[in-house]
Amino acid sequence: MSAQHDLPLFVDLEAKPVLVVGGGVVAERKINSLLESGAIVTVVAPEITGHIRNLEQSNALIWVTREFEVLDLQLAKFWLAITATGVADVDNLVVALCEDDQIWCVNCASGQTSSAVFAAQGKTADGIQIAVSGNRDPKRAVAVRDAILYELDLGLIDPGPQRGQALGSDTAHISPSADKTGTVTLVGDGPGDPELITLRGLARIRQADVVVVDRLAPQALWTRLPLGIEIVKVGKEPGKHSVSQDEINEIIVDRALKGQQVVRIKGGDSFVLGRGGEEVQACVTAGIPVEVVPGITSSIAVPAAAGIPVTHRGVTSSFIMASAHDGAKSVLSAIGNTPSEATLVLLMGAGRLTEICQALIEVGYSPTTPLGVVEAGLTPDQNVTISTLQEVAQNGLKPGNPSVVVIGEVVRMRTELGDLSPASTYSGFLNSEHIDSRESATSRANFDVASS
Ligand SMILES: C[S@@+](CC[C@H](N)C(=O)[O-])C[C@H]1O[C@@H](n2cnc3c(N)ncnc32)[C@H](O)[C@@H]1O
Repeated sequence: MSAQHDLPLFVDLEAKPVLVVGGGVVAERKINSLLESGAIVTVVAPEITGHIRNLEQSNALIWVTREFEVLDLQLAKFWLAITATGVADVDNLVVALCEDDQIWCVNCASGQTSSAVFAAQGKTADGIQIAVSGNRDPKRAVAVRDAILYELDLGLIDPGPQRGQALGSDTAHISPSADKTGTVTLVGDGPGDPELITLRGLARIRQADVVVVDRLAPQALWTRLPLGIEIVKVGKEPGKHSVSQDEINEIIVDRALKGQQVVRIKGGDSFVLGRGGEEVQACVTAGIPVEVVPGITSSIAVPAAAGIPVTHRGVTSSFIMASAHDGAKSVLSAIGNTPSEATLVLLMGAGRLTEICQALIEVGYSPTTPLGVVEAGLTPDQNVTISTLQEVAQNGLKPGNPSVVVIGEVVRMRTELGDLSPASTYSGFLNSEHIDSRESATSRANFDVASS
């Protein structure tokens, strides 16, 4: 009996006689499933579990109180037999007799000798039935079944609307009912690797009517969105109208007031130099329910990926994260009187790094303080440069965007730890058809923004 040629089949056992040989816990589990399917169950076993006994006493099944006998297959016109005696000779005999009589037989002790096998099965609250075959390896089947149920539960897999509830998948997400309350959810999608979004963040995105994204949102994430979710891009793009923060606030509030479930995707964490607070303020002012799903911030995760912990016992127990957008002035005002043992993490500092290093030396930082620059962290293009304040102050350094700059003794840890996070191997639902359809939805959305 070859597993490779198994035919996955759902069969109707309602009112069909089924024989179960054996009365232990394995048999008990199968009996429960059979009774749920409406089968008429006959159990042949000298002893049975308390649960099977209760079933027998409530007339849910027939119990023949003895060892299996060859003629037992004639007790009724059985469609299926299950053998779970724990005695190989008996199980094999049942299998052989069933084969002769053309009765499907599940040998619970050996998938290889069975002419039928149970799938690992489960059901969601709204009745979706999952059945997985593990090529006769029940443990693998159970693992896959559990993973699918888990993802369905979290909303990571979208089974689509139930038949009769919506016209089709393309319209299901974009037609909010008039009385539906709109919401806004800010989701931080991490520093660039599509695997680094949280489960909750992904679930919210999948339940959205519309997602509003910046240029920084990982492209691969889009391919995970069910068709029918509208994408509105609000990041700066060459040759296109750039959308101001006020306009972004207006877009998300306006969509929510129309009853849509709006998800605003932001790079890293929405509240770390992400202007998420302003968007929440706009929603609160408009009386819109708003939720924030935290994201993994690049300020900690990107150094970590390069083997630089922002704190390390015996080196430093504090770090300062600052925007270097306005150059040395903003960095110096952020560090104030903080001791220079604290690690300094600079975001948006790529363009003015030389000037910043000079200023730090001038305010008393040791010129030999190590400095690490991590460009495009946690992406396949991650690039790490290690230097010192003095070297950069004298020779200059112009890393690409985006980059996180780390200044402090912890940078030396990289020598010992090395790169700690491989680029994602996630491919998800990546296929050209999916990407094409997402991109055409995006173009449509851009047109909407420009004309609004
Ligand atoms: C406007 S800030 C947004 C930060 C974001 N909210 C966060 O929590 O990571 C953008 C800056 O984040 C840093 N950044 C974001 N992603 C990065 C990455 N993958 N590699 C290096 N730096 C990154 C860069 O310093 C970039 O200039």
